[in-house]
Amino acid sequence: MAAMSKRFYVTTAIDYVNGAPHVGHAYEKVVADVIARARRALGEEVFFLTGLDEHGQKVQQVAVAEGKSPQVYCDELAASWRQFAAKLGLSNDDFVRTTDPRHKEFVQAILSKLHAEGQFYKSTYSGFYSTNAETFLTEKDRLPDGNFDPSWGKVIELQEDNYYFKLRAHQEWIIQHIEANPGFIAPDYRRNEMLGFLKSEVLEDLCITRPADRLNWGIPIPFDAGFVTYVWFDALVNYISIPFAHGDPLIRQAVGSGGATSFEVWPADLHVIGKDILKFHAVYWPIMLKAMGLPLPRQILAHGWWQKDGQRLSKSTGNVVDPIAVIDEWGVDAFRFYVVRELDIGPDGNWTDAGFRGRYQSELANGLGNLVNRSLTMIQRYRAGRIPNGVNQLARETTETWDRAIAAYRANALQGALQECGAMVTRANQYIDQTSPFKIAKDPSRAGDLDNILVTLAEVCRALGVLLWPVMPGAMEKLQRQLGLESINTNLSQFPPPLAAGHAIGEIFALFPRKDQK
Ligand code: MSP
Repeated sequence: MAAMSKRFYVTTAIDYVNGAPHVGHAYEKVVADVIARARRALGEEVFFLTGLDEHGQKVQQVAVAEGKSPQVYCDELAASWRQFAAKLGLSNDDFVRTTDPRHKEFVQAILSKLHAEGQFYKSTYSGFYSTNAETFLTEKDRLPDGNFDPSWGKVIELQEDNYYFKLRAHQEWIIQHIEANPGFIAPDYRRNEMLGFLKSEVLEDLCITRPADRLNWGIPIPFDAGFVTYVWFDALVNYISIPFAHGDPLIRQAVGSGGATSFEVWPADLHVIGKDILKFHAVYWPIMLKAMGLPLPRQILAHGWWQKDGQRLSKSTGNVVDPIAVIDEWGVDAFRFYVVRELDIGPDGNWTDAGFRGRYQSELANGLGNLVNRSLTMIQRYRAGRIPNGVNQLARETTETWDRAIAAYRANALQGALQECGAMVTRANQYIDQTSPFKIAKDPSRAGDLDNILVTLAEVCRALGVLLWPVMPGAMEKLQRQLGLESINTNLSQFPPPLAAGHAIGEIFALFPRKDQK
């Protein structure tokens, strides 16, 4: 047996538990899931981690308002977020909650170690503080008239002791790392943004605590009972606390702990996150890892933000897209397809219901669905449901599509992979229109031509059924069953072998039923 080797490790941001999941949360998880599935389909072992960020003042406040303990409140919400992950069809290998004992204990161990090594210091800060945003404000946050923007809510003057992590000393080092590793931050313009920030501003040390009398819903720091960990030293650490729990050797070694197993995942291959938290992932996190003596993640992939009808998503104005309602009405495959097809990873995107329906109708119902349905119905009708002996006349185009789509998957260019498949669907539907199998079928002397057409169409459908599986696993499994395949083929490392002459197709049904345009 081959020796165990490092798995491909992909993570998502962990969502705050307050509130219901929206399309932005769903998008990020689907992107990471498609990448995880594509990697597995390419033959790699994968560890895909997602989960929840459960500590903080907002959670504490809402729980208290509802008369619940924060833990009970989080447990209830975590159950519904887990259901949401299942509803999205996520193939995650673990699900982290920052209230898990395995996470909390690891955070404390890391804090003790870094404290002992002199990475933290205690200091008094006095300044203006927004209670709404739970953040200190600086002179830069003042409006030209000297006041703070009303969106900060109530601003008070606060004097407070806290612990700080020494970031400042690493500014040059992180600039060099980003410059020397062009693929570290993707897409390119996000990398330039980070370099711009690092070269123009002084990196302030990072405040890592809150006094426990002000915030007690957090992980207590082990070396001072008066404080809990604040946000990033809790949340970011999930990316290593869970591998540690599974026995990742590098992480076990870095914290001087035994119990290593063959579960090798660190360093992460890919952190999929939104553009708003890029600085924390591309600057703070690498510095934290360096301080811990751990290698850095290979890539941080920052996606853009979804809007609806050109406006920011907002619960208070009701401008939201409820992914659960969309999935209930249209199916999870259509939802996954739409978000990946519509929005390239990087820029912002705009959800419109009309846009969603339009793509469903043209690309799924009339495009792919119709291609599969017409092809299989003809095999059923003209050849009693058996694949004839014939020549695949689109063999070259299909293998070229395959190669380009695979290259796109490898580059995490998911929209590109779908564009390749979409072009192949269009090409095959055109081929039907051009070759007119319905007419040829009436002429017995052209049986050989009809055989070739039917073989060609079956082969195109079969390749698409494998290629599109990472994005639409459920629908592509149905497609493959309609083709009469007994075991589902999810192997992207090899162009699928042709169906044998005489192979019987399965039962035919609409993959993406047409819906009346509303
Ligand atoms: N808990 C932190 C992340 C800690 S990661 C160690 C957090 N949570 S969040 O719930 O506010 O956001 C979770 C993810 O959803 C982030 O990557 C964020 O960018 C993403 N999105 C939130 N709103 C979004 C859109 N409108 N569109 C796309 N993604 C968005 O930040």
